[in-house]
Amino acid sequence: MFKRKIKTSVGLDIGNFSSKLVQLEFFPHGQRLLSYGIHQFPLNTIVGGQIKNKEAVIAGIKHLIQRCDPHIKEVVISVSGRGVITDKLTLQRRKGVKTSQLVRFEAEQRCPFDVDDVTLDYKVVKVDEKSDCMDVVLVAAKNETLYDQLAVVYEADLKPVVVDVDAFALYNTWETNYPPDEQLNTVLVNIGAEVTNVVFVHQGTYHSTRDLSVAGNSFVKTVQRQMGVAAELVHQALQGKMDPKLDHSTFMFAVNKSSEMLSKELDLAFSYFKSEAKVDKIDRILLSGGCSLIPWLPGFLEKRHHISVEKLDPLKVIECSDQLQQNGLNELAPVLAVPIGLALRQAN
Ligand SMILES: Nc1ncnc2c1ncn2[C@@H]1O[C@H](COP(=O)(O)OP(=O)(O)OP(=O)(O)O)[C@@H](O)[C@H]1O
Ligand SMILES: [Mg+2]
Repeated sequence: MFKRKIKTSVGLDIGNFSSKLVQLEFFPHGQRLLSYGIHQFPLNTIVGGQIKNKEAVIAGIKHLIQRCDPHIKEVVISVSGRGVITDKLTLQRRKGVKTSQLVRFEAEQRCPFDVDDVTLDYKVVKVDEKSDCMDVVLVAAKNETLYDQLAVVYEADLKPVVVDVDAFALYNTWETNYPPDEQLNTVLVNIGAEVTNVVFVHQGTYHSTRDLSVAGNSFVKTVQRQMGVAAELVHQALQGKMDPKLDHSTFMFAVNKSSEMLSKELDLAFSYFKSEAKVDKIDRILLSGGCSLIPWLPGFLEKRHHISVEKLDPLKVIECSDQLQQNGLNELAPVLAVPIGLALRQAN
């Protein structure tokens, strides 16, 4: 009769390379990881953010549910990449005009897609009564991208209760796990297969986000072009399991070339942040996503950008049982940064 109702939440991150599921339990002063799973899709299941093989995605999601907890019904999901725009705007308030109308008008000017083909959402983050201006974070997701994601989730017999954005989930994970140091400018860099999400944290609070198109697939394509080998072999080599028949120095040459491509994109993003936030220094990079596990990449980025690079620990303050820890959870944890942020969202 007095049994406490356990509050749980599930984050489901359907990425281009793998889908990841995290189930959290909430109690008054914290969270506990109940289960998690990572399912790698067969190659070309999702290409450039487009679902090419719906059945494989649905089967992958169902497999994760069976493995983690067959009772799961509700999930928090996310969108990112080419079909999603996030922007921070400063809007002048106007008498008699609703904020939603102001935002829609502004989105029409800025959005590269037709506003009728996108789903818009926004949040007012700051109001300056003196100047009558407000800072608004805007999200515009292409309906095609959004509806495809929703369709596979429903077809896997699940109910999506919240649709978030990868970058915001990443920030949510950081905010839960790391104390907001007002002295530091931190950049969260989540390197997946198709997209690298970059989130700027200015002196302890959210500043802005950018999605870069250089990520794991760019590494794979560059190595394939250089060496003429199958994508599968390249993925294995990136994970440190290199086929002895492959030439190590040619491989490293190609990998350095693609790491430099990523760094060039990061340079542009960092310059944008420094000029917008009027800061001259970024203090640290926290890396996550599958590519954060590439053995030499954190060292390469640290040397190249002269910024301290650490792996983001999304479970720093989240309790985990010994049993879950024993299966290599610590090493894999940075891959769970987005789904953990999604699962945390529902408790907000
Ligand atoms: N253990 C590992 N070691 C090194 N690299 C890895 C490892 N696991 C995955 N990767 C690489 O990370 C990339 C996939 O990362 P991740 O699973 O975060 O992507 P995703 O979320 O599916 O993609 P996206 O976010 O772009 O949609 C691939 O390029 C893969 O080769
Ligand atoms: Mg991802």
